[in-house]
Amino acid sequence: MRLKDKVVWITGASSGIGEALAKEIAKRGNTVILSARREDELNRVAQEITQGGGKADVLTLDLTKAEEFPAKIEHIISKHKSIDVLVNNGGISQRSFARDTPIDVDRKMFEINFFGAVALTKQVLPVMHKQSYGQIVAVSSIVGFIGFSMRTAYSASKHAMKGFFESLRIEEAPLGIQVNMVYPGSIQTNISKFAVNEKGEAHDKQDRRQAGGMPADQCARIIVRGMERNKADILVGRRELLLVYIRRYFPGLFYRLVARIKPT
Ligand SMILES: NC(=O)c1ccc[n+]([C@@H]2O[C@H](COP(=O)([O-])OP(=O)(O)OC[C@H]3O[C@@H](n4cnc5c(N)ncnc54)[C@H](OP(=O)(O)O)[C@@H]3O)[C@@H](O)[C@H]2O)c1
Repeated sequence: MRLKDKVVWITGASSGIGEALAKEIAKRGNTVILSARREDELNRVAQEITQGGGKADVLTLDLTKAEEFPAKIEHIISKHKSIDVLVNNGGISQRSFARDTPIDVDRKMFEINFFGAVALTKQVLPVMHKQSYGQIVAVSSIVGFIGFSMRTAYSASKHAMKGFFESLRIEEAPLGIQVNMVYPGSIQTNISKFAVNEKGEAHDKQDRRQAGGMPADQCARIIVRGMERNKADILVGRRELLLVYIRRYFPGLFYRLVARIKPT
């Protein structure tokens, strides 16, 4: 499937991977609908896309407010006629030990990363069934495959996404709906700055691992290639991805290696 002339709705499009994906997808001749909470940042991304000759529309959205999703969907349909692709990318990370983290923070993580994506997908699916066509993309994480220190709730929410969207791929394939999972490793974005600590507040620091990760535009190109090839799992990153295979085939080695990584 060539990603062209489609209406592509991207959550978390105000920065990082979502912004890079929006730019890459718009460059290929699609209309991108940019969603997140920060309207000023969405407008900036939209302006950069339209200045480059692309088509972009801004639609603010808070993933914790599922009651507002029907109106957002109606808005897109009335203006753009279809939703061909939904990219569930919006999310937040964590920087705190489980022993210090109140359950409210764990729930918040699930509310945004898991239930936000699931609720939006459930409301978009009927639109796609009516079109007899659609593609749902879900951005999990390398920690959707493995555990990692100071990421308990984040990793759990990303594992939950894997279970949901992998099952959805099986259910929806006969109906012509394509489902793809994305598992980024370390990508150069501000995710660690917005990650929540044990108080539920922003960590507000750029991690060394993030800063030295794969550039977001390169990550976006790899994701789009995977979407076009209808890959079930799109793993994107550098040598940190090896941890997935080490965990699967050499669990003892995995625990020795991660024990050496300083938690940040
Ligand atoms: N960077 C990495 O190394 C990495 C690795 C693995 C997985 N990921 C995943 O990749 C996705 C994108 O992250 P990123 O690295 O690009 O980080 P980012 O730059 O912090 O982007 C996160 C995006 O999610 C949006 N968002 C957060 N809370 C939201 C809410 N309640 N409602 C709607 N939108 C919300 C943010 O926009 P607003 O603040 O404007 O709402 C922002 O656009 C996330 O799902 C993340 O878990 C990233």
